[in-house]
Amino acid sequence: MPTKPDLRVNIGRIELQNPVMTASGTFGYAKEYAELVDLNRLGAIIIKGLSLQPARGNPPPRIVETACGMLNAIGLENVGIESFEKEKLPFLETLDPPIFANIYGRTIEEYAALAQRIEALDAIAGIEVNISCPNVKAGGLAFGTDPQAASAVVKAVRNQTTKLLIVKLSPNVTDITEIARCVEAAGADALSLINTITGMAIDIETRRSRLANMTGGLSGPAIKPVALRMVWQVAQTATIPIIGIGGIMQAEDALEFLIAGATAVEIGTANFINPQATVDIIDGIEAFLAQHNISRITEIVGTLVH
Ligand SMILES: Cc1cc2nc3c(=O)[nH]c(=O)nc-3n(C[C@H](O)[C@H](O)[C@H](O)COP(=O)(O)O)c2cc1C
Repeated sequence: MPTKPDLRVNIGRIELQNPVMTASGTFGYAKEYAELVDLNRLGAIIIKGLSLQPARGNPPPRIVETACGMLNAIGLENVGIESFEKEKLPFLETLDPPIFANIYGRTIEEYAALAQRIEALDAIAGIEVNISCPNVKAGGLAFGTDPQAASAVVKAVRNQTTKLLIVKLSPNVTDITEIARCVEAAGADALSLINTITGMAIDIETRRSRLANMTGGLSGPAIKPVALRMVWQVAQTATIPIIGIGGIMQAEDALEFLIAGATAVEIGTANFINPQATVDIIDGIEAFLAQHNISRITEIVGTLVH
């Protein structure tokens, strides 16, 4: 009987039992999925993006189905850090996998204040910083599209936390490797990419956008080739671990990201179609490794043949 492949990976100093995590905003605060998935099988859990104050998000309609994907303009609705600590954290404390908080702010000071608060929470193993949000002091330009602003956010968060610091990159840029280099230099322990790609859908009868917010973020299989290309590009320059995200629906998709250079992956839109997508992907990766006599998952990372 051959031994089972070793699926463990390290993101910075944190060891995951396997490389499959949940993508922020697609898995709530995990409890929502507790009856549908064995949460303790996951590599890590990333929760819905948190802000200092509760946020109601954008008005409806805020989700549209598109060819091979979805557009969302939720607008980062969340319960805010205070309710999160009181109402959501106790359940998360009962789980085995590392829990990562995803955070966003409208100013650098807000990011820093959130990081400081999360630093005190023992149940949170790390912070994923979402820089794909508007910087109110720079006329709404997203932090993640400006190397200086991105770097300033990461430095401010780094100053407040010793926890694992993952920076989640926006794909809505000309050269993602430039931002990746800047945030690594600013103190990130790992990079996750990609966030959603800005898109639109129009109702031709009413000539209105199908989203009240006009534009939204495209996710799902439609974005996988773009995400894969960006992960591969960033892997050429980054010296810290990369977490691949974008349209991963099955184990084969996850394996493509690992071969392109990602150490781990996040699963987003797939959870809405198949709530068990994460565990199916873990099982599929394990089966692939066993079939190919690969004893450790790390042996496949960054093995693209040129
Ligand atoms: C409904 C929805 C809500 C999301 N909320 C967040 C969020 O709060 N913070 C964040 O960093 N990313 C958020 N994202 C982006 C996802 O985490 C992920 O980066 C993106 O959807 C691409 O992965 P996918 O194609 O597997 O869905 C959200 C995506 C969706 C579809």
